[in-house]
Amino acid sequence: MTSALTPRQFADFSAFIAQHLGIKMPPSKQVMLQSRLHRRLRELGLDSFAEYHERFFRDEAAQADEIEHLLNLATTNKTDFFREPEHFDILAREILPRWLQQPTGSVFRLWCAGCSTGEEPYTLAITLMEARARQSFEFSILATDVSTRVLQHARTAIYSEEQIAPIPQPLRAKYLLRSRDRQNRQYRIVPEVRAHVSFGHLNFLAPDYGLRELMDVVFFRNVMIYFDRPTQTDVVTKICHHLRPGGHLFIAHSESLQGQPLPLRLRGPAFFQHEPSALRT
Ligand SMILES: C[S@@+](CC[C@H](N)C(=O)[O-])C[C@H]1O[C@@H](n2cnc3c(N)ncnc32)[C@H](O)[C@@H]1O
Repeated sequence: MTSALTPRQFADFSAFIAQHLGIKMPPSKQVMLQSRLHRRLRELGLDSFAEYHERFFRDEAAQADEIEHLLNLATTNKTDFFREPEHFDILAREILPRWLQQPTGSVFRLWCAGCSTGEEPYTLAITLMEARARQSFEFSILATDVSTRVLQHARTAIYSEEQIAPIPQPLRAKYLLRSRDRQNRQYRIVPEVRAHVSFGHLNFLAPDYGLRELMDVVFFRNVMIYFDRPTQTDVVTKICHHLRPGGHLFIAHSESLQGQPLPLRLRGPAFFQHEPSALRT
């Protein structure tokens, strides 16, 4: 097996990935891409990166069959339950109570944009189930990702002991079911929580996201770090088209939208309110 991609092969794959996903692949990512491709080559029984590259770029039918796998392996899917937990507190203590005072419809609508394996949308659902114990309301969560592999996992709602570790014990008792097979330490999110979350395939580079409802809240965290600045502006602009004026957008604490021409006003740590008049061009 050839142990390294040539600079040309890497440049071709990285350009393809940037074009289809918006994900930057500078030369510093070569080792990472190479090791992910290495696994794929083994699955396909191929002996060299040259063979894989040749098939992908010279054979249209082979590319059509392989593109989903290549795009899946190009994404980084790190996530956790209750990641950056302050945002879930803000949702439950500030944003939801305001919505309950002045509901914008019969359902509180959230979009988890770039949901990976589901930990984030299920955390949102658990947070809102807890709030619902105090006051009744309807909510629904749309969770989308471009990777078909992570969506498949998210839909199963099954997690290992290690993955559920960040969920506080009292919430685990309420919202997780333990596998009947005691050797197999796996947990599944209860049906009452799952019923509030629907999953869909969505690429942020698509010209039209095809969402029918305006959202009250969007979680778009730890996704745009992989995009260059023009792509970030473009994607967040499109996300804002699906966010109700007055609705809230959460990004990760390590991310920033500073100086970008967007209809958003910063309201707190890494969260914004959609204010169409705030757009300065
Ligand atoms: C690091 S995970 C973040 C998961 C979660 N939001 C969190 O903060 O824990 C980033 C996710 O963005 C998705 N993603 C990357 N590029 C995308 C694109 N162009 N369209 C849609 N999703 C994308 C990846 O598949 C991945 O699951």
